[in-house]
Amino acid sequence: MYSEYSLTNNEWKMTYIVANWKLHGSQDFVKNYSEILGACLNTAPKEKNITTIICPPFPFLERVALAGVIHGFSAGAQDCSAYESGAHTGDVSASMIKEIGAGYVIIGHSECRQKNPNEHQYISQKILQVQKAGLTPILCVGESLDVHNTGNADSFVLDQLEKALKNYIDLKNILVAYEPIWAIGTGKTATLQDIVYMHRAIKSAPLLKNLNIPILYGGSVKPDNTSEILTLDTVQGVLVGGASLKAETFNFIVKAAF
Ligand code: PGA
Repeated sequence: MYSEYSLTNNEWKMTYIVANWKLHGSQDFVKNYSEILGACLNTAPKEKNITTIICPPFPFLERVALAGVIHGFSAGAQDCSAYESGAHTGDVSASMIKEIGAGYVIIGHSECRQKNPNEHQYISQKILQVQKAGLTPILCVGESLDVHNTGNADSFVLDQLEKALKNYIDLKNILVAYEPIWAIGTGKTATLQDIVYMHRAIKSAPLLKNLNIPILYGGSVKPDNTSEILTLDTVQGVLVGGASLKAETFNFIVKAAF
């Protein structure tokens, strides 16, 4: 159904390996992790164009950004405010994230969507804030198991995309991560066919057509399944939760992109 999309052979391909630490980490953890990851990134073949992005909790973001300058990775936040400033206790704005040296912000992660049932209303505004601050959003989309079982996952995800991107002014500066909720933290990875099908659906979305937006996959990515996921022609990277928490394990995932 979505087969009209195809990659040309000479398309320039960057691979994004993103670690989402969720609610984990400490100052010591950042230091040790950065050194171990940095040693691995030192051996990365330059022609592979690998961008490694570490997304820690906010208190460690500046440390990760500084360590990244030395060790060759980028820093990303796990979320941001839908507002620029004002009476929003507990919020962190995209411009604050930019100021401490991060380059990316995860937006619309399913764990944020689940925690706040109104989250979908803010996603488009958050993406605008991220863009305005000069950062790159990593927009997460993905269906629940119930939706998956109805066979309507593609229209569900396309609707999420449409709502998230309708006000977006520079569609080029964005990464999209397809993360089926039923695959997150469950050890159940989507099949390769499911990933390709959904990535093609995303690339065929009216707002994204012909833009070659990088599409990532997330959901129980591990060292032993990364290579096959990355060999799919629609996949330009992975978003890794649990398996990113040990630098040695995450290094195997990074090396799968070498
Ligand atoms: P997981 O998490 O790799 O632990 O499944 C992925 C994510 O939540 O981004």
